[in-house]
Amino acid sequence: MNKIEQMSALINGQSYQNGKWVEIISPTTNEVIGQVPALTKNEIDKAYQIAFDAQKLWAEMPLLARIKVLNQWKELITSHKEKIADLMVLEIAKGRKAAITEVERSVMYIDYTFEEMKRIHPRAYNGDSWNAKNKLGIFEYVPKGVVLAISPFNYPVNLAISKIIPALVAGNSVVFKPASQGSLVGLYLAQLAKATEIPAGVFNAVSGKGSEIGDILVENPLINVISFTGSPEVGKHIASKSLKVDMILELGGKDPAIVLADADLEDTASKIIKGAFSYSGQRCTAIKRVLVDAKVKNQLAKILVAKVAKLSVGKPEDDCDITPVIDNKTVKYIQGLISDALKKGAKNLIGNKVEGNLMMPTLIDNVKENMKLAWEEPFGPVLPIISFKDIEQAISIANKSEYGLQAAIFTTNINSALSIAKRLETGTVNINDQTQRGPDHFPFTGIKDSGLGAQGIHDSLISFMRPKGIVLNWKD
Ligand code: G3H
Repeated sequence: MNKIEQMSALINGQSYQNGKWVEIISPTTNEVIGQVPALTKNEIDKAYQIAFDAQKLWAEMPLLARIKVLNQWKELITSHKEKIADLMVLEIAKGRKAAITEVERSVMYIDYTFEEMKRIHPRAYNGDSWNAKNKLGIFEYVPKGVVLAISPFNYPVNLAISKIIPALVAGNSVVFKPASQGSLVGLYLAQLAKATEIPAGVFNAVSGKGSEIGDILVENPLINVISFTGSPEVGKHIASKSLKVDMILELGGKDPAIVLADADLEDTASKIIKGAFSYSGQRCTAIKRVLVDAKVKNQLAKILVAKVAKLSVGKPEDDCDITPVIDNKTVKYIQGLISDALKKGAKNLIGNKVEGNLMMPTLIDNVKENMKLAWEEPFGPVLPIISFKDIEQAISIANKSEYGLQAAIFTTNINSALSIAKRLETGTVNINDQTQRGPDHFPFTGIKDSGLGAQGIHDSLISFMRPKGIVLNWKD
């Protein structure tokens, strides 16, 4: 066996291994490329107790002192970005340039979060509107306590940092659990944190198979907030298990790109391709269906096919546009969606070939509402095209989804754009651009099965704090 990457958990500021391992499999070669500790209930419970014990002193440290030590972590992430990117290439088959961009984006996120936190001040309220003249309420934001941060495989740096940093800077302690695929990166970040002056126990990183430790992780009574990004199935399971904690859930999506007949089709197609096929479609905010006016459907499809044909397909090391999807289970699932659609009369325009976990970018036309591909989330490089006869039908198909993350509308008519945007049941609507979470300080929310609560830098900070009031009363 080639040398594999081996990482440790981080508990109470110390590297931790117990001799039991979870193997990490390469999406590119299907070989074992690393291992992370398979922690047990006792070890995870210990991490929570340590986080709980460390939190109060951490919260009492002045904000600038907290920022100072967290900034040391940021500096280390910056100086180790090449290694972090190499691990992403290896572990999740993300193209190298995109991996570097993800680290840089996360570093910017950290800086912005520090600045935003400095500007979150207590609010003061006069009591007199309630006929309580001699009352002044002062409400400061205080940390909620212990945060469980669970990051997904697809953004092992950004979607870890965007939970951990706001939680910590706001004065919470954190137990961090990266998705199994993504654990090498997550635990490497934790090792960098170990080399800083962040007080022991404030930030802990644990690992193990979700199927084995998932319930242990989310049911611990010391947790105050769970911030989770991942699949809708796991998100719903977490919600059902953890009734007494606050939750921020970022789950799936089936984001539509709605293309009106007056859209600039060339520009629209470029943005759809980027939105649908970046990181091989493995983004919750990827464009996952095109709803196009029947009058321009063939024209748009032709341009899309030409652009898909130009996507490079291959290895993440070579920075190809399309790289292997995360595992073979995903390949099989996506193939099932495609064959269901083809059996029911859809037409393959390009792609629909597989080598190992590498799926050729695929466009499926004539997709109808009776096909699974119209509704289910593939998390891979396949894009269904559905035509509509009028705007009412477009809105109806868009809103019929069980998801409500984002939508895009492409048109040159601002009136149509705004009027449709108001009626779409999603967290965000992008006019004339692809669906996307960023810039990272925008509020990011999903409704229906897409999630719970709001992220984005300000909103994330607020979600990890609660208003605590002190009311002054006086006599005249
Ligand atoms: O996969 C879920 C991410 O939140 C999507 O983020 O829109 O920046 O790719 P993104």
